[in-house]
Amino acid sequence: MMTSTCIFDAYGTLFDVSGAAKQAASTPEGQALADHWPALSERWRAKQLEYTWLRAITGAHTDFWQVTQDSLDWSLEALGLHEDQSLRAQLLDLYRALPAYDEVPATLRALKARGVRCAILSNGDPEMLEDAVTSAGVADLLDGLISVEEAGVYKPDYAVYDLVGSTFDTSADDVLFVSSNGWDAAGAAGYGFNTLWVNRAGLPVDRMPWRPRFVSKDLTAVTDVLEEI
Ligand code: LAC
Repeated sequence: MMTSTCIFDAYGTLFDVSGAAKQAASTPEGQALADHWPALSERWRAKQLEYTWLRAITGAHTDFWQVTQDSLDWSLEALGLHEDQSLRAQLLDLYRALPAYDEVPATLRALKARGVRCAILSNGDPEMLEDAVTSAGVADLLDGLISVEEAGVYKPDYAVYDLVGSTFDTSADDVLFVSSNGWDAAGAAGYGFNTLWVNRAGLPVDRMPWRPRFVSKDLTAVTDVLEEI
């Protein structure tokens, strides 16, 4: 039987977070990043996630746009690029319009055609998520954008995963949760969702007490996985 609700993580799963630094590096204003964009991108993402976990553990919540700026500032300083205010502004603008992975529109369309309800559950704040789905042209293919701002804490706090049930009146075992972030997939599996880890980078599975039930290399596997639930 096919489950009726498919919930996607946003950053790294639907949207390519390396897109901002990569695109900036290809412009005249972003020349300082020509050799550094992968390092900047990696540090920015790692620090961003670290800050979400620290803020969740300590109860010091602030929204994801603030965390995204704080982690960018740390990363630019680590690379000696923090004096360049126009580079900072350019990177932040590009982060509001990240590219979707190639298979995203077709995957969402295929799910919609099968009558599956599709939504995002993300650390992103509501405005960031609106900007992301609009610029990627997939807003019409989603039935909801659920932000952790409704819970006031970051993933993988279970108050975040609870938002799916309270939004759609569905039980955890009727949900397929899809994330390319290994720690998010582990958290969601521990919570009780059927979980697909989209292992885009070919990484080892996270050594946590909970493992994703399904693993794929991109999102094209979602329709087949849904048939198995
Ligand atoms: C999100 C982060 C985890 O979209 O990528 O929630």
